[in-house]
Amino acid sequence: MILVTGGAGFIGANFVLGWIAATGEPVVSLDKLTYAGNLGNLASLAGDARHGFVHGDIADRAAVQRLLAEHRPRAIVHFAAESHVDRSIHGPGAFVQTNVVGTFELLEAARGYWMELAAEERERFRFLHVSTDEVYGSLAEDDPAFTEETPYAPNSPYSASKAASDHMVRAYRHTYGLPTLTTNCSNNYGPYQFPEKLIPLVIANALEGKPLPVYGDGRQVRDWLYVGDHCEAIRVVLERGRPGDTYNIGGNSERRNLEVVHAICDALQEARPREGGYRALVQFVKDRPGHDRRYAIDAAKIRRELGWAPRESFASGLAKTVRWYLDHGAWVAQVKSGQYREWLELNYAARSAA
Ligand code: NAD
Ligand code: TYD
Repeated sequence: MILVTGGAGFIGANFVLGWIAATGEPVVSLDKLTYAGNLGNLASLAGDARHGFVHGDIADRAAVQRLLAEHRPRAIVHFAAESHVDRSIHGPGAFVQTNVVGTFELLEAARGYWMELAAEERERFRFLHVSTDEVYGSLAEDDPAFTEETPYAPNSPYSASKAASDHMVRAYRHTYGLPTLTTNCSNNYGPYQFPEKLIPLVIANALEGKPLPVYGDGRQVRDWLYVGDHCEAIRVVLERGRPGDTYNIGGNSERRNLEVVHAICDALQEARPREGGYRALVQFVKDRPGHDRRYAIDAAKIRRELGWAPRESFASGLAKTVRWYLDHGAWVAQVKSGQYREWLELNYAARSAA
């Protein structure tokens, strides 16, 4: 079996569901259930003997040690993190605690477990660390995309904490020989994404007729990766990646934020027409401090060495995503808790229209 951290979050839940569907191999999910974790994301696995859930913190080394001793996984796939740049600006402490200290404690538990394995199991064991393209910093309009060799230059507390965790993973490979794999992916979107991130936030606001907040001039560029494609790439890296290596994963879909917002408006207009159209709801608001201008992934290595390329175009992935949110109004209503409303107040009230 495998252990997945952060399995109740957006990408983790998609990964667990996709893993069991694709491989049938049992999974235990370890998740602290922060505001971003939602057991409802895994509800379709209730009663399925191939999935177990453990409520716990990756920074609790003793608890992780017990879990490893009990379940004896052949791999750990590490998603658990604080993941939202805007939250890291308002409160960086949690990012250092989970992303840096938590990853360190998890590595320590994994190292102890791995060292005690029999030779063949030791050889087979993998620790796959899921990271982000944001560790590479910001690109100018016509710079080449990030490769695995691009120097690290993180700019936000979020990306700095992820960079620190990547370095720790690298050190555990180099120093102790732990068979690690690191993936650095671009912006994900798809089912079960918490509506604090751009795409689900815009869909949720639009359906309520609320303003669609576009930071600054809306010309920042992200490379959008459909979450199902990302999960497939992780499965491929886990099975065939070279221990110690890193792999960039992207969607071949660079778009300006305003283009993304317009594309969502147009997809919604077709599915659920609104008088005056959804584009009329766009509102330019005060920019994010230190806002990175452009991220772009060169995913040639994973294509060349492991034969993976994204299946979805931005149009097909976005169409699926919009359909999912339209069909899952109850999920959206459930995650919009009091805590979520407090976040909207904290992040958006001070951003008067630009
Ligand atoms: P998310 O915020 O939706 O989910 C994170 C999950 O981790 C939640 O279920 C949360 O409860 C859990 N968690 C947080 N702290 C924990 C702790 N201390 N112990 C155990 N569980 C804890 O995040 P996501 O978007 O699914 O991202 C998953 C991973 O992918 C993260 O490592 C993130 O940095 C990385 N990533 C995400 C994106 C993206 O676009 N979403 C892009 C690149 C990389
Ligand atoms: P986000 O989804 O937070 O991902 P990241 O900052 O990790 O790339 O934001 C994606 C882009 O959208 C980013 O350039 C910031 C911008 N954005 C807005 O313009 N308005 C919003 O309300 C949010 C949440 C993001």
